[in-house]
Amino acid sequence: MRPRSIVILTGAGISAESGLPTFRDKDGLWEGHRVEEVATPEAFACAPELVHRFYNLRRAALATVEPNAAHLALARLQRQHPGKVTLITQNVDDLHERAGSAGVIHMHGELGRVRCTRCDHALAWTGDLGTGTVCPNCGKTGYLRPDIVWFGEMPHHMELIAEALRNADVFAAIGTSGHVYPAAGFVGEARLAGAETVEINNAGTAVSERFHRHLTGPATVEVPRWVDGLIAPGT
Ligand code: APR
Repeated sequence: MRPRSIVILTGAGISAESGLPTFRDKDGLWEGHRVEEVATPEAFACAPELVHRFYNLRRAALATVEPNAAHLALARLQRQHPGKVTLITQNVDDLHERAGSAGVIHMHGELGRVRCTRCDHALAWTGDLGTGTVCPNCGKTGYLRPDIVWFGEMPHHMELIAEALRNADVFAAIGTSGHVYPAAGFVGEARLAGAETVEINNAGTAVSERFHRHLTGPATVEVPRWVDGLIAPGT
């Protein structure tokens, strides 16, 4: 029998136990900031320094945290599962890659990348960004922005994601609240393809009823347990 194709979607909840705040939980990012003020193209047009400060703080925080047992378990699944494992994340952190995962699909962009809105050059970036930062490609200032998908913008890699969902035998959503589309609709697409679906979260979500199975608890406990079940069924 052909090894099964596994498609995984992760959200902010998988990085919570590494010390990165989620968006909508208590003390989440959206409690301290109004989305409209920091995560829309309009916000960047009218208050770029406020937007830069928000992402500079998040970029700096990234350097102070480490991948956790959930990230490490998914990297292990990618190494040991004989079939295809597609890892899609809404997260802009690099904890999947630092845990050893390959080919991570960042549908909402990456904190570690910036893009010039004048010449469209994109590059890796670690330090602070500001309106005075010069684009290394076109030499102009004031055009570099975080390479992050803001509200109202199209997510990245949607064709690749649709292809993976069409061929999924197993679909798992880990640490995501199901409030933001198109990601929240992936379970529906996977079910249409006949996939078994599992939600791993420490609470119920806006789309829980769409899943066949639920593993409720902290990601660092439930994800390694789920992965063990896939890699060594029945042990
Ligand atoms: N273990 C498992 N699940 C957890 C944990 C944990 N330790 N901590 C929190 N969660 C769950 C919460 O119950 C919630 O369902 O993670 C989810 C986090 O939800 P959100 O904060 O809404 O984050 P996410 O779903 O990733 O947001 C989606 O919204 O703001 C935009 O672009 C941003 O990518 C983001 C998108």
